[in-house]
Amino acid sequence: MDGNGRWADLRGHSRWVGHRIGCRAVREVVDAAPRLGIGTLTLFAFSADNWRRPARETAALMRLFHSYLTEDLGTATERGVRLTVIGQRGRLPAPVQQAIAGVERATRGGRNLHLRLAVSYSARDAIVEAARQGARSRPQFEQALAAGEPGAAQVDLLIRTGGEQRLSDFLLWECAYAELHFSPVLWPDFTAAHLEQAVDDFRGRERRFGGLLEDVPCA
Ligand code: IPE
Ligand code: MG
Repeated sequence: MDGNGRWADLRGHSRWVGHRIGCRAVREVVDAAPRLGIGTLTLFAFSADNWRRPARETAALMRLFHSYLTEDLGTATERGVRLTVIGQRGRLPAPVQQAIAGVERATRGGRNLHLRLAVSYSARDAIVEAARQGARSRPQFEQALAAGEPGAAQVDLLIRTGGEQRLSDFLLWECAYAELHFSPVLWPDFTAAHLEQAVDDFRGRERRFGGLLEDVPCA
């Protein structure tokens, strides 16, 4: 979810306003995901490298996560959304850690959408940590990467907003065969219609996973 700061700059607001309006886009996208056939949605909310930003911005973002987790808990349970968090949660302020634990517990039964928030997340760190846990098989390793959640291992579609065309340490292992969709739209302007466009585009892609299409005749 990229482009909050630029969105605010363009309007003469502080970056904080961009993050706050970006939260509205999160709500719209989470709402739309199940009807577009999305089973798991992972939102990159804050990278481990984002700690390099000024303390006032990281503190504001932490407050925003906290209010998102507490304010949206009711809606999440009502809509059958299971919310889990990946990333270095030990680095998060204690109230945010407590809110995460509460939301994960309360939404455990959600079946309509698995919403994963990546907070203080680094794919390289997650890979090193999963290896350190001594996983002996690939399924064990992938489960460790998914913070103990089976079934969230492979990414089908990766959408990056805000015009940048890079992965920025996001789900590097899981994106081995992800279809990439780069959108110039700044995150606060990203709507359900943009998500639908990305999913339609994805449906038109030919996915071969290194093999051949069944209907391609042998030369
Ligand atoms: C949101 O966009 C990503 C977060 C870390 C919350 P940015 O804050 O990176 O916005 P830009 O790239 O400066 O526009
Ligand atoms: Mg950015």
